[in-house]
Amino acid sequence: MSKQELHDEVMKALSTVMEPELHRDLVTLNMVRDLTIDDDGVAHLRVMLTTPACPLKDVMARDIRAALARVNGITGVDIAWDSSVPTDGRIFGQIQTPIRSVIAVSSGKGGVGKTTVAVNLAVALAQTGARVGLMDADILGPNVPKMVGLGYAQPPISPNRKLVPFEVFGLKVMSMGFLADPNTPMIWRGPMLHGAIRQFFTDVEWGELDYMVVDLPPGTGDAQLSLAQSVPLTGAIIVTQPQSVAIDDARRGLAMFEKLNVPILGVIENMSGELFGEGGGETLATERGVPFLGRVPLAAEVRIGGDTGHPIVADDPDSPAGQAFRKLAEAVAARVSVTLLGQQNVVPLNVIK
Ligand SMILES: Nc1ncnc2c1ncn2[C@@H]1O[C@H](COP(=O)(O)OP(=O)(O)OP(=O)(O)O)[C@@H](O)[C@H]1O
Ligand SMILES: [Mg+2]
Repeated sequence: MSKQELHDEVMKALSTVMEPELHRDLVTLNMVRDLTIDDDGVAHLRVMLTTPACPLKDVMARDIRAALARVNGITGVDIAWDSSVPTDGRIFGQIQTPIRSVIAVSSGKGGVGKTTVAVNLAVALAQTGARVGLMDADILGPNVPKMVGLGYAQPPISPNRKLVPFEVFGLKVMSMGFLADPNTPMIWRGPMLHGAIRQFFTDVEWGELDYMVVDLPPGTGDAQLSLAQSVPLTGAIIVTQPQSVAIDDARRGLAMFEKLNVPILGVIENMSGELFGEGGGETLATERGVPFLGRVPLAAEVRIGGDTGHPIVADDPDSPAGQAFRKLAEAVAARVSVTLLGQQNVVPLNVIK
């Protein structure tokens, strides 16, 4: 068999290996790069994942090895891993900023843990090596600064006159809490609120981001609408507490994004445990036919982490809540990949460097 024939046989074998989350084969997804076969018959290849937060490398490696073991002339397999998050082309089209995906974190009800989830999710995504932004779209009641240990401090201005986000825990962060003195309440009108959220996309030096996580205020009001009008949202995450009162509000929150044609990435149940019960989030997800992304336990260290500006997933990633947030990040990243690859206007992986 010639080298070219062997190469073709290997590609054919790889086209039988499925990406476990995306349910398409590695060749169709253009995930196989730089395939070479050396004189000893060892196949060297690079696999381009759709997120650095992919927990399924081991499964894929096993399947690749099994498929190539059946190819005559192949004596070994050497896999290198790489990743490139697919790009939601609509985002660049609308705001000319190289942000690949935008994830809105929302809920119907206040105080269910949106900001806590947004912060820990963003940190967990950054821990995998992704480039992550965290935008506080709670303009009137910004809580993100405190939860990441930052206060009222004017962000620097870049040479092209944009605000430079602060960098903490591997994230780029922007919040009205940096810009406005919390002791001097401002009077906001609807259009100003809209302008502020839009400017947080266009007038901030984000640089290239794989994921922009946006923390929203509670409810189904102006901020949600402004956000959806300012930028094409890749998807929304609905945070809820397990008990039924919270679920009713979460259902309204979910319905609002569906009305705005924003894909629902899934439901997260926060503060799971003895106090509020368990399972409501999953029931809601099943009822509405959307993914259940996971649950975070009610735990004192989560609140303390928020109060002291040390997100639990950064401070104690192996605690039960830290682990829960890391698993959530993987689930969210997978849903973003699935959503983007299902879109018409997604930029193919190989176009993005
Ligand atoms: N899993 C958890 N275990 C313990 N405490 C938590 C948990 N999640 C959030 N909290 C605490 O609950 C309080 C409310 O959380 P958070 O501010 O994140 O909610 P929110 O939904 O963003 O609120 P708002 O609607 O006011 O924006 C905070 O004190 C936070 O530390
Ligand atoms: Mg909040």
